[in-house]
Amino acid sequence: MNSNSDAFIPFLRCIDCGGGLREDIAALVCQACRRSYATVGAVVDFTATELGARAREQAAIYDAKEERDELLNPRVTPLLGRWPDLLLTYREHSRQTRALRLQNGAAVLDLGCSTGLFLRSLSTLVSIVPFGIDVSLGSLARAARAMPNGCWLLGQADNIPVVDESMDAVFAFDVLEHVPDMARAIGEVARVLRPGGKALFHLPVLDLQGSFDDVHSRIRPDRHRAEMLGAGHFLKNFRTRADVLTYCEQAGLAVSRARRFNVMFQNIFDYRLKHRFLGRMFNAGRIPWSWYHNVVAPAIELVTVLPDRLIGAAGVGASVYVSTVKATTQQRN
Ligand SMILES: C[S@@+](CC[C@H](N)C(=O)[O-])C[C@H]1O[C@@H](n2cnc3c(N)ncnc32)[C@H](O)[C@@H]1O
Ligand SMILES: [Zn+2]
Repeated sequence: MNSNSDAFIPFLRCIDCGGGLREDIAALVCQACRRSYATVGAVVDFTATELGARAREQAAIYDAKEERDELLNPRVTPLLGRWPDLLLTYREHSRQTRALRLQNGAAVLDLGCSTGLFLRSLSTLVSIVPFGIDVSLGSLARAARAMPNGCWLLGQADNIPVVDESMDAVFAFDVLEHVPDMARAIGEVARVLRPGGKALFHLPVLDLQGSFDDVHSRIRPDRHRAEMLGAGHFLKNFRTRADVLTYCEQAGLAVSRARRFNVMFQNIFDYRLKHRFLGRMFNAGRIPWSWYHNVVAPAIELVTVLPDRLIGAAGVGASVYVSTVKATTQQRN
């Protein structure tokens, strides 16, 4: 695997029988059923032949994006929030993450980790034991090149190859709407979290009335549909905010905060305007990063994210951040 194998392997388990794994030549082998999982560098293949149709579709979409170089690229993207694409969204991811106050040494799983940008960014704030899981091999290979000391799992959110109650935190940014069974994936997150461990989800929701996405889908339905499909979004996977909160509570994850996002102005900036001017100037090196990040972005947030918070508090927003804590045994009894 990699130089950190000894630290990672105790966290991993067989997806068939739940048995512990041991390292073999270019593979991890289940100590109970002997099933073998191939390792290519820091990527462990937990999929073999059994990706479902939906997951195969997702893997194809994101592998193709990786080949076209359309994914956030850890080689040229130094830190989360420093990249002009989805600048305000990734800054909000950082803010919500910092609010969790993770401790040094935390075992952290990023569900749908893509090219590993989030874990790489988080590891500059706090020392973590980083685990990333995704169905896209191309994305993971890139993650492993950029962060060779991470543990990269080619696998699925609905059968996470990680031991029960072993993770201090789990993150899933814009992933739950891609998985075939959201309730099951949230159940898996609850299983792998230790009691008191935290999970943070960000996902679009069905009840988006009044948001910019809602307006856009009405005035430009064809373009909206094309964008949704291009992102691998299948509307039938979407759920309402209330459904998501119910899935969390049913799985034993107490919801500590649920805040609407992608309300109106931030959405217009991130998805419509960024390419037109600022992003281009930043990419062309005309705006220094420090100026962009420390002056321009906060100024844009004043007129976008701040008013959005007020509207969002009234229940408007096309996506939601859900912060949860897994109940301790005492709380559950
Ligand atoms: C919209 S991208 C989000 C990537 C990243 N979390 C971010 O915020 O930039 C969705 C990711 O979920 C992955 N994905 C789709 N279905 C999945 C599944 N069943 N299990 C795990 N990951 C999945 C995709 O390959 C893709 O990398
Ligand atoms: Zn096994």
